[in-house]
Amino acid sequence: MNQPLRVLFVCLGNICRSPLAEVVVKSVAEEQGLSQMFHFESAGTGDWHVGKGADPRSASKAVEKGLSLEKHQAQQITPRNIHDWDVFVAMDSDNQYNLIAMGVKPEQVIMMRAFEGMEQTPDVPDPYYGGAGGFEDAYQMLILNAQGLLQCLQNFKQQH
Ligand code: 4NP
Repeated sequence: MNQPLRVLFVCLGNICRSPLAEVVVKSVAEEQGLSQMFHFESAGTGDWHVGKGADPRSASKAVEKGLSLEKHQAQQITPRNIHDWDVFVAMDSDNQYNLIAMGVKPEQVIMMRAFEGMEQTPDVPDPYYGGAGGFEDAYQMLILNAQGLLQCLQNFKQQH
């Protein structure tokens, strides 16, 4: 079998949205027997939380949904490590802009909410400064897009 596609979920801090996206999409991939096709991780464009665990609100949301962020350690994506990844899944348009500014090719960046049939792809809003509701909202956006994203990743793998 050929190498797994290396997929990096990206947000700003890598403690709220992208770690949750990583475990949500990974669990759907497992349910569908697709896990061998992909290697999933997550990272932030910022460095404030490098080495730290997930935000407790994201970690408890994961547990509530039967997932776990217990082992999460925040990491940063920088121009030096962009070549470790084949595809980047951006939570919002700032993440997309920052990835491309680092030298990632635009065609390597997929927006997390690109699979809702909206004319303009919306962001997964940053829940960090908001209340607990923002984490449930983020989870719902992630689970809603997981299937479409996995199909897109399978297509990407076939084409590259
Ligand atoms: P995330 O949320 O990008 O979804 O992990 C944030 C976490 C921390 C900060 C910003 C966003 N911060 O400014 O520290």
